Amino acid sequence: MVGIGGSVDPGSQSDRALRAVLTEVIARGAQVELFSGQDLDLPPYHSGAVLPDPARSYVEAVRRASAVVISSPGYHGTVSGLVKNALDYLEELRTDRRPYLDGRAVGLVAVARGWQASVGTLATLRQVTHALRGWPTPLGLAINSSMTKFDDDNYTDDPGVRAGISVMADQLVQFPNPQNAAVPP
Ligand SMILES: Cc1cc2nc3c(=O)[nH]c(=O)nc-3n(C[C@H](O)[C@H](O)[C@H](O)COP(=O)(O)O)c2cc1C
Repeated sequence: MVGIGGSVDPGSQSDRALRAVLTEVIARGAQVELFSGQDLDLPPYHSGAVLPDPARSYVEAVRRASAVVISSPGYHGTVSGLVKNALDYLEELRTDRRPYLDGRAVGLVAVARGWQASVGTLATLRQVTHALRGWPTPLGLAINSSMTKFDDDNYTDDPGVRAGISVMADQLVQFPNPQNAAVPP
C-alpha cells in the first residue's frame, strides 16, 4: 500500500492523519510505502518530461501498489497544488496493464481548518480518484484541524476520527483485489 499526501509545513495535520491511517493498515498486515511532504515537492508535471529520481521512485511504488491512501490539506477550498501535482504524475501509468489507479482501493483523507474546505476537498479527491480509475473506499475522512489535533505520534484523542480511521483501514485491506484473486483451475 502507498500513502501519498501531507504538506511540507512542520506538524502538518494532513501528513499526520495519513500516517495514522497507514499505522492502522500496517496493524492489519499490510506493507506500506509513504510519500509525503518533501518527497512530493516535485516540479510541475508535464507529459513527456524526464522524471527526476524521486518522482520515478514514487511512480514505481504506485505501480506496484494494491491500494493507496491519499491525504490532502484543504488549500483555498480544494486539493493542494502539491498533492494534485503528485496525482498528475500518475499519468506515467497510463499505458500499464493496470492503468493509473485501476483495481486499487483508495482511502481518501481531507484536512482543513473548517468543514467547508475539508468536505469540499474530500469530494474533489473522489472526483480525481474516479478519473484515475481508482475505487474510493465507502468511507472517506473529512477532518477539521481546528477541532481535531494529531500529536507528534500521529495520535488524536478524537474518538470519531479514530473510529473512522479504523473503518477505513478495514475497508482498504478487505477490498477484493484482482491481483489477489485465486487463479481458476
Ligand atoms: C495556502 C493555504 C490555504 C489554505 N486554505 C484553507 C481554506 O480554504 N480553508 C480552510 O479551512 N483551511 C485552509 N488552510 C488551512 C489548512 O487546510 C490547515 O492548515 C490544515 O491543517 C491542513 O494543512 P496541514 O496539513 O499543513 O496542517 C489553508 C492553508 C494554507 C497554507
